[in-house]
Amino acid sequence: MSKTPWTQLWLDYKKVNSKGNEGYVSNVSLEGFEAEHPIIKNALAELALGVKEMLGQEISVKTGPLEQGLVIKKETTSPDLEGAYRLAEKSGKLTLLAGEESGVLYGVFHVLRIIATEKSLQGADEKKSPSQPLRMMNHWDNMDGSIERGYSGRSFYFRNNEFFIDERTRDFARFMASIGINGIVINNVNVKDAATYLITERYFDKVAELSGLFAEYGIKLYLSLNFASPLELGGPKSADPLNEEVIAWWKEKMAEVFTRVPKLGGFLVKADSEGRPGPFTYGRTQADGANMLADIVKPYGALIIWRCFVYNCTQDWRDYKTDRARAQYDNFIQMDGDYHDNVILQIKNGPMDFQVREPVAPLLGGLKKTNQMMEVQIAQEYTGHQIDVCYLIPMFKEILEFKTYIRKENDTVADIIGGGLTEHRNLNTGIAAVINTGNDIYWTGNVLAAANLYGFGRLAFENSLSAKEIAEEWIRQTLSNEDEVVEKVLSILLPSREVYERYTSPLGIGWMVTPHVHYGCSVDGYEYSRWGTYHRADHLGIGVDRTDKGTGYAFQYNEPNASMYNDIDTCPEELLLFFHHVPYTRVLSTGKTLIQHIYDTHFQGVEEVEAMISCWQTLEEKVPAEYFANVTERFGRQLTNAKDWRDQVNSYFYRKSGIPDEKGRIIY
Ligand code: GCU
Repeated sequence: MSKTPWTQLWLDYKKVNSKGNEGYVSNVSLEGFEAEHPIIKNALAELALGVKEMLGQEISVKTGPLEQGLVIKKETTSPDLEGAYRLAEKSGKLTLLAGEESGVLYGVFHVLRIIATEKSLQGADEKKSPSQPLRMMNHWDNMDGSIERGYSGRSFYFRNNEFFIDERTRDFARFMASIGINGIVINNVNVKDAATYLITERYFDKVAELSGLFAEYGIKLYLSLNFASPLELGGPKSADPLNEEVIAWWKEKMAEVFTRVPKLGGFLVKADSEGRPGPFTYGRTQADGANMLADIVKPYGALIIWRCFVYNCTQDWRDYKTDRARAQYDNFIQMDGDYHDNVILQIKNGPMDFQVREPVAPLLGGLKKTNQMMEVQIAQEYTGHQIDVCYLIPMFKEILEFKTYIRKENDTVADIIGGGLTEHRNLNTGIAAVINTGNDIYWTGNVLAAANLYGFGRLAFENSLSAKEIAEEWIRQTLSNEDEVVEKVLSILLPSREVYERYTSPLGIGWMVTPHVHYGCSVDGYEYSRWGTYHRADHLGIGVDRTDKGTGYAFQYNEPNASMYNDIDTCPEELLLFFHHVPYTRVLSTGKTLIQHIYDTHFQGVEEVEAMISCWQTLEEKVPAEYFANVTERFGRQLTNAKDWRDQVNSYFYRKSGIPDEKGRIIY
């Protein structure tokens, strides 16, 4: 089916009903842009490819005025954000206006998207400007080719500690540009072994080559950095950020790096986290560490993106006072305002670790004077390993729309990471996703998981899109434009996160996963471990008391959120067990007791998976055969997983509580 040994994802450019679009894209003219500019060249090549494959037509490119067709024109007056564009149609002429080349590229992909989804270009009148200035993908690829939390094969960048750059890499850059991604971190945040040498002679040529390729698609390449590099690369025997010798070593190192890789965007740093070295080792602050590096890379226009995933991972489960959920905030709030302007703090969306349901991290809405980026995970580490379907865009929308009450208006997470907290828009803000790709032919293991890859980029560029609109675009471009397919696949994708939630851990408590692997159920898997991830279930109830009587976590939020979470009667029910220790007999808003809620949702979740499978089966003749087979196989495994979760969770809580299911269903 596919034209390459890997699929073309949503850029498959299937034949479409032209909807009268052909006249707009046969003649193309450039005004104010150079046809030879690498980004423009790629934009035009993409347009030619898409138009040929979808409409069976060649395009011709000229300079100068045009009566009919597509005029790509430089807008010189607009102070818009990089990547912005306008598309307007009038009397057979389509005008694409942009301030710079990346806007042209995104605009061309938008035109192709309109054609691919069988909409009409006639009457187009749209202005698009990216919602988040930085829209990044974070690969967790190791240089031996393995991928930390990767569920789609191995790395397509690295093999046996060497780079691998080929047509597939170029296709990947196209896919990313088509959804507006402008930054990619290529290596795992846990920087060890060969990856430490990415900033040495051993890899400069390859890093430069890849950054050059990305740049042709408007994407900056970033590296994850080992904070202990001086020690490991033969420099001073310390990584103390205030030590003069260490600083001098980094200065020399960065001068070398940016001479050899001038297009490098900067570095992502995981320090003092899960065994990685950092400033705390030397009694210094996170700001000391981040600022030292930031000052050194500043002359090169580069950024230091500093992760806030700093917590005690050697906790004693007997200790009820320490609360991992508090850690990001406690470790970073005091130094608000101390971080230099090319430092960005990268904050996970929740206070724990990418669970299917968590409250929004209170650091987002806590920090007032610090550049921030939010990190989400489309790699389905805790949400089904791309075996189970779990469309995450509805969850990301909820998070973006969350009101932090950091100020009276424009206080949502989207406002903060869109740079709206400052008088002039702060461009050192954004959103990053831990990516779900690998070298498997479908890129994302489960074909349906590509909806998250696509959706993340689309949402980051345009926060106002709904999860449904995004899914529909993806379905039409990837699977089929037939309405029946669109409706049915929407009915699978849209509720899939809540379905996953129903058959796994209830009401925001999270975890209960097989340790280390994080797929499959193990209710007590992490209960007596050092990781700080406990459910605290006993024979009377379950949940973690994070109120003023417990760990006090609820008060990391601004009011009225703090009081809302603190009070069991106003706490949103889907997060009840995250904030409160609750008796099994408590009656919920549905009129059911907590224990009955647990039983019912787990039975329901499995039934919903069965219904999804039946729905998918009806599409056999309607979607590409390989895709059908891929998803069918995954669904088989999802059903086994869901049943396992249902039976383990229900049996566990029945045995703990001794309270039978009202409906008398089988519990073991
Ligand atoms: C999770 C994940 C790790 C990862 C870490 C991180 O804990 O399981 O594999 O390294 O997050 O975000 O740094």
